Amino acid sequence: MNSPESPARPSPLAGVLAIDPYKPGKSSAPGTAKTFKLSSNETPLGASPHALEAVSKHAALEIYPDGQATKLREALAARYGLDPARIVCGAGSDELISLVTSAFVGPGDEGIFTTHGFLVYRIAILAAGGIPVVAPEKNLTADVDAILAAVTPKTKIVFVANPNNPTGTYLPFSDIKQLSASLPSHVLLVVDAAYAEYVTHNDYSPGLEIALGSENVVMTRTFSKIYGLAGLRLGWCYAPLHVADAINRIRGPFNVSGIAQAAGIAALADGGHIDKAVAHNTTWLAWLEREITSLGLPVTPSAGNFVLIHFKDANEARAADAFLTSHGLILREVSAYGLPQCLRLTVGLEEANRLVVEKLATFLKTKGR
Ligand SMILES: Cc1ncc(COP(=O)(O)O)c(C=O)c1O
Repeated sequence: MNSPESPARPSPLAGVLAIDPYKPGKSSAPGTAKTFKLSSNETPLGASPHALEAVSKHAALEIYPDGQATKLREALAARYGLDPARIVCGAGSDELISLVTSAFVGPGDEGIFTTHGFLVYRIAILAAGGIPVVAPEKNLTADVDAILAAVTPKTKIVFVANPNNPTGTYLPFSDIKQLSASLPSHVLLVVDAAYAEYVTHNDYSPGLEIALGSENVVMTRTFSKIYGLAGLRLGWCYAPLHVADAINRIRGPFNVSGIAQAAGIAALADGGHIDKAVAHNTTWLAWLEREITSLGLPVTPSAGNFVLIHFKDANEARAADAFLTSHGLILREVSAYGLPQCLRLTVGLEEANRLVVEKLATFLKTKGR
């Protein structure tokens, strides 16, 4: 029986309704003969053939997977010299971001991320009932002083994507060390290194060294980017034991499928495939940055496998997006990141990269630029 003051239907938590649902990049360009999906930072080289083989050989779909992902954690531990007990695997690093937030952020607690930081942080904090706090960036780059200035007694978690999506900017390891050393010890620092494998700068580190010796630093990684397993949903994190324990208490008991575990182990063992992907990206990222800049479109120098292209204004970016889509080139509009004047382009295969530059040149001509 409804009491007179009870609402007419169940209502979600206020924080849930404050979330703008995550809008993935477009994946189709209707009416075009051939499309190039350059909107979600997926690798153009696909997954390792060994991972594909592991997937095709995976039988026993009726059997639950190993809920601890034991062999995968052991393979990751061996690959990076880590303690497997401190590794937690998830259905993409997105899941781990949500889980760690739910475990450490409650109603009224604050979580910090930066102006153009990856959108999932905001979603995870709101979903946990927390208050998202945005720390300003400098030159589209996270700023350690601004993050520290945003810390209050209510702060429970700080997210830094390194490199960040969609800007492609990164913090040198010295900055991450300074941030970690300056944060109060009860604040969890999550270093999201989804694009770590692509970074070739000498002053960069994914953050393992500080995660190793710290009680409040978590590093998240993914198999979705350079490993080419985005469709399987597989990520992992390296966390202090007490944090790993908290995540393990709240995650789904079988959150990573057996197929994903088998593919991850095989992908990890195929170093040659990763080397190829890094070489391809290094060459074509530099080429795209150079060619697009020489068209008169500034780009933000990127450490990842994508590049942020700046147009005159939001109208021009929208028009460019429509023009490129009409030629089968699917880029990512990034207005949800506060960058409506930009488009994000994932590094593709040679054919796609050359076509983007050619069509951007045509587009600019139509604009008299
Ligand atoms: C910075 C960053 N972190 C995390 C993710 C999530 O990746 P996944 O959930 O596929 O592991 C992405 C995906 O775009 C990303 O760009």
